[in-house]
Amino acid sequence: MKLLFINGVNLDMTGIREKGVYGTQSLDEINAEIAAHFKDDECEFYQSNIEGEICNKLHGADCDGIILNAGAYTHYSLAIRDAIASIKIPVIEVHMSNVHSREEFRSKSVISEVCKGVIAGFGKNSYILAGESFKL
Ligand code: DQA
Repeated sequence: MKLLFINGVNLDMTGIREKGVYGTQSLDEINAEIAAHFKDDECEFYQSNIEGEICNKLHGADCDGIILNAGAYTHYSLAIRDAIASIKIPVIEVHMSNVHSREEFRSKSVISEVCKGVIAGFGKNSYILAGESFKL
């Protein structure tokens, strides 16, 4: 199975910013653990802080499933919402933190309605749970 993991804005700061929320591991370290978990699958990892680049990546995706942590774009990017709606590949929205137990603005997602499902609150395992869900 081909899985594409996309991380959006500020996720490159994982391990540096808000360690109490997002942990101490870097995104590269987390991605290495994800790749080891899905060792029998083909995993691609992509990160961008730029909204349009994330849209381009979604448009050009060639895989069985996309795991997307759009970061703060989740809460307001109609461009990413429309990019998800424009492709046939299923997308799962993920968040490391439980967005519903934090500030009120994080409970609103403009992408959930065009995603296959949503997983939040399991730290780096949110990505693994989302990837596994494509195998059910
Ligand atoms: C996040 C939650 C978002 O609200 C936040 O803006 C992020 C990370 C998460 O993984 O918990 O950057 O998507």
